[in-house]
Amino acid sequence: MAAKNQDLAGLEESLLKDVAAAADLATLDTVRVGAIGKKGSISALMAQLGKMAPEDRKSFGQSVNGVKTTIAKALDARKTALETAALDARLATERADISLPVRPGAVMEGRIHPLSQVLDEVVEIFADLGFAAAEGPDIETDEFNFTKLNIPPEHPARQDHDTFYFPEQADGSRLVLRTQTSNVQIRTMLSQKPPIRIIAPGRVYRMDSDNTHTPMFHQIEGLVIDETTHMGHLKWVLEEFCKAFFEVDEVKMRFRASHFPFTEPSMEVDVGAEAIGKPGEWLEILGCGMTHPKVIANCGLDPEKYQGFAFGVGMDRLAMLKYGITDLRQMFAADQRWLKHYGFSAFDVPTLAAGLSS
Ligand code: DAH
Repeated sequence: MAAKNQDLAGLEESLLKDVAAAADLATLDTVRVGAIGKKGSISALMAQLGKMAPEDRKSFGQSVNGVKTTIAKALDARKTALETAALDARLATERADISLPVRPGAVMEGRIHPLSQVLDEVVEIFADLGFAAAEGPDIETDEFNFTKLNIPPEHPARQDHDTFYFPEQADGSRLVLRTQTSNVQIRTMLSQKPPIRIIAPGRVYRMDSDNTHTPMFHQIEGLVIDETTHMGHLKWVLEEFCKAFFEVDEVKMRFRASHFPFTEPSMEVDVGAEAIGKPGEWLEILGCGMTHPKVIANCGLDPEKYQGFAFGVGMDRLAMLKYGITDLRQMFAADQRWLKHYGFSAFDVPTLAAGLSS
């Protein structure tokens, strides 16, 4: 027994030496396998336990376990030390020169779609004005896309929208592909308490197709509801938006009386085309108005207390105007050459401080 314990002390000593001497992780692993691996020297001693007299087994077993623990700890410590040393060596020799230009390759070649760029630009501008971004579903109930927006079932506006209807459900209601992002007005008023200040970008769908219409296109809705907002605020917000978006100091705007079921009064807004280098022309860019009291009431809010405004902008149209794109269908054709021409570098993140599109 005593002899065995002496062997054990010798084994521990020699293994500790091996551990300390291991100069790299691979050598250390060989030491580990040779000691506590399945066929290692410590494991071999463990295997002998079964053949020993019961009175010897306990104390010898404890001693072997002690050695095993010591060696395992030493292995761990050495491993950490070697890893740290390897990392330090890499850190000392490897340097990244972040002032170098980006290497040619996928990141440089890839292009951000002009619509994604315009979306980022618009969100950036309205975020700066204190608007949060909201979202709603593409598949919407008839109720939220139309009825609650003061467009009852027999309203002619439903025909104008050339709606894609889903089959009638058991209760007689129908889902639609939303024809406008105005559904998010309803969803927001039903789920949030005023003051509300949101913009809601998203896809909308209408059965229509020519070089300025596609069955799917994009809108951005805006909604402000509180107790004091009036038409002066609406005009100011839209003017600030147009100046920032077209990146000009002055913009001419024209508010024409119009009609939308969910606003009263309603207006369409034209922008002087000198903003895009075409003096003398007007560009129609959006619809807007003061939120109709019926819409506010439809969402469970008191129209005597709350008021506000809404607007809806065609995002594809904004992109076409700003970036000189003539055929809307090309936007969705997934043509690499088109994207190379009209797209933006992934490094061109629009910010108000650094310039939206520069
Ligand atoms: N939803 C309208 C459309 O698709 C656009 C619109 C007009 C939205 C006026 C508004 C608004 O929020 O106030 O034609």
